[in-house]
Amino acid sequence: MLTDATRLCHASEVAEDEALCVPAPAAAPTPGEPWFLVRHGGRLYGYRDDCPHIPGSPLAWRRHAYLSGDHQRIVCHAHGAQFEIATGHCVIGPCVGLSLTAIPLALAPDGSVHFDSNAPHPQHPPHPPHASSASNGPYSRITLTKDSRRQP
Ligand code: FES
Repeated sequence: MLTDATRLCHASEVAEDEALCVPAPAAAPTPGEPWFLVRHGGRLYGYRDDCPHIPGSPLAWRRHAYLSGDHQRIVCHAHGAQFEIATGHCVIGPCVGLSLTAIPLALAPDGSVHFDSNAPHPQHPPHPPHASSASNGPYSRITLTKDSRRQP
């Protein structure tokens, strides 16, 4: 069920190839924990702000700064690990083969983005470094329509 306790933001707050830091909502297992969303290829992806190289380490060097210079990968600025946006898999750096923890997302009819509290707790097993983007779990991304990009 999508409520204020699961709401993260409105889809229009995340521009294409940009990231947005949001606090985990009240219904999350860890309320207030920093999470981030990335819009890429017309889809939204959500991850915990927690680098698999050193668990507990945040990725961004400043608020919302999760992406590489060309905005095509997620980067941990501590030691330079790079992750595919669509899968969260580390493809360059000290934790190749490990993955970010995906957040299950749901899109409400009004375009607001929610933590899908009905989904199983998000966990990605380690993947090989060159795994296909298609191997991503189905719950960690949502496809946006034109209507969901507009502020209500
Ligand atoms: S803590 Fe992220 S690459 Fe080392």
